[in-house]
Amino acid sequence: MPVCLYTPRLIIRLANQDDIPDLLTHFRNNQDFLTAFEPTRSPDFYSRSYWRSQVARSFDQYQNGQALRLIIFERDKPGSTKGKVIGTVNFSSFVYYPFYCCSLGYSLAEDKQGYGFMQEALTVSINYVFNAMQCHRIQANYMPRNQRSGNLLARLGFRIEGDAKQYLLINGVWEDHILTSLTNPNWTAP
Ligand SMILES: CC(C)(COP(=O)(O)OP(=O)(O)OC[C@H]1O[C@@H](n2cnc3c(N)ncnc32)[C@H](O)[C@@H]1OP(=O)(O)O)[C@@H](O)C(=O)NCCC(=O)NCCS
Repeated sequence: MPVCLYTPRLIIRLANQDDIPDLLTHFRNNQDFLTAFEPTRSPDFYSRSYWRSQVARSFDQYQNGQALRLIIFERDKPGSTKGKVIGTVNFSSFVYYPFYCCSLGYSLAEDKQGYGFMQEALTVSINYVFNAMQCHRIQANYMPRNQRSGNLLARLGFRIEGDAKQYLLINGVWEDHILTSLTNPNWTAP
């Protein structure tokens, strides 16, 4: 069974083909907001055909242990198992023995910031990656001006490990990043 995680307000799971209209609405509505924080998207990213392949690719990557690409849905009402797409959580670049590490990326809809949704989603997702996938280390990096992201990582216990100049091509510019990580205190060997 593909991963499906629940919190009081959210459902966090892999996407399926039925989610595509909702995903497209989410990404189209938030295109202007997210552009400043992400690598440049090809126009294809906003098309149905892109998401048809992306949903299939995400499932394969999950099955192969390469990545865990999750969609955050806000429940329609308490207890409901249906909801609307409000964000994404991506664990990628999984490396195994002797590193057991992955990279974390995330984003929320512009109008869903400031309610604790990402902290709620990441708490349960990180728990899954540490305990079910036996990952030892999660790395997450943010641009110095992205204080909301820095605050979120600090609240979750990520430690700053350094800074990297011209680290990632964000919106067409090589942006410096602050490097952080969280390690799994209860790691057991797979
Ligand atoms: C980074 C990002 C996910 C942070 O979102 P966020 O809403 O600040 O983070 P959270 O969901 O954890 O919410 C925390 C905020 O909700 C508030 N809050 C309200 N109700 C809350 C609750 N029940 N529980 C926890 N916090 C709550 C907190 O006080 C905090 O607000 P503050 O920062 O104004 O003090 C979001 O800004 C984003 O998607 N940015 C664009 C993409 C991006 O930057 N991605 C990361 C690249 S490194």
